[in-house]
Amino acid sequence: KAVLKLISVAALGAFAMSPALANNPIVIKFSHVVAADTPKGQGAAMFKKLAEEKFPGRVTVEVYPNSSLYGDGKEMEALLTNNVHMLAPSLAKFDKFTPKIQLFDLPFLFDDIKAVERFQVSEKGKELLNSMRDKGITGLTYWNNDLKQLSANKALRVPTDARGQKFRVQASEVLDAQFKQILAIPRKMAFAEMYQGLQTGVVNGAENPYSNIYSQKIHEVQKYITESNHGLLSYMVIVNTKFWDELPADVRTGLQEVLDQVTVEINKVSHDFNLADKKKIVEAGTTEIITLTDEERAKWREAMRPVWKKFEDQIGADLISAAEAANK
Ligand code: LMR
Repeated sequence: KAVLKLISVAALGAFAMSPALANNPIVIKFSHVVAADTPKGQGAAMFKKLAEEKFPGRVTVEVYPNSSLYGDGKEMEALLTNNVHMLAPSLAKFDKFTPKIQLFDLPFLFDDIKAVERFQVSEKGKELLNSMRDKGITGLTYWNNDLKQLSANKALRVPTDARGQKFRVQASEVLDAQFKQILAIPRKMAFAEMYQGLQTGVVNGAENPYSNIYSQKIHEVQKYITESNHGLLSYMVIVNTKFWDELPADVRTGLQEVLDQVTVEINKVSHDFNLADKKKIVEAGTTEIITLTDEERAKWREAMRPVWKKFEDQIGADLISAAEAANK
């Protein structure tokens, strides 16, 4: 009898230690800063659906959009302390962890979103997913939004039009340098504060793909959008390394499969998603969209291009060449 008791105590112990067996699902909190109705918002929702279908009762994904759990500035810290488990920050937000990822923000680096995808699936692109593992962050995949446009209350046709204008930028040294290069004034500001910043005139302009402009109602506080396609907005889906490594192996593999599936789906639709939001902005009638001639666009490229040299040592010339090669 005593032996039996011992066995059952041991069994109970094993039960308590194994959350999945004890019917405690693995909870993955996924926090992000954009609206649910955006490429990233949809990616997070799709991940939740597919992950919970694959591991019924074993995995629960809680998605917190719109900076409702953590906003910019706080979310990385929360990931490192395991208060949130999955994020998809824009690639502009990693320069504190690795200078290499600054690559993606070099102005006019990629011709279009297809080139971005080609680079991301290349060996060098995949290597960057693991470039922060020693800092406790593991990258699992990239999700693309789209190329960025410049918005302002002034018509911006050539770079000199932007002189002295204050632009909201993400917390990125490259983006800061990009606006300084054209003698504009960058102001780092959390995504959630951008609308108010524009409304109150703390800043006069910003840079976003159409999906963020539309879902944040930026068009309501900006008279012009210059279709510059001058830079990229793409995300890295990241997890706390320790949390990820300690998941049961089958769950880890299964979740990576789900993420890869979501990547394919989201990257397939994100550009069209942005075009649809552009149409809605046009229909709203608040904002004039300025299309640049090839010559005008070349002027922006020329004016911003010196930024590349400034960051070449930090990023690595080989990495820049590899990314450029994806344009062909
Ligand atoms: C921004 O801060 O402008 C973007 O990174 C927001 C986002 O996640 O799309």
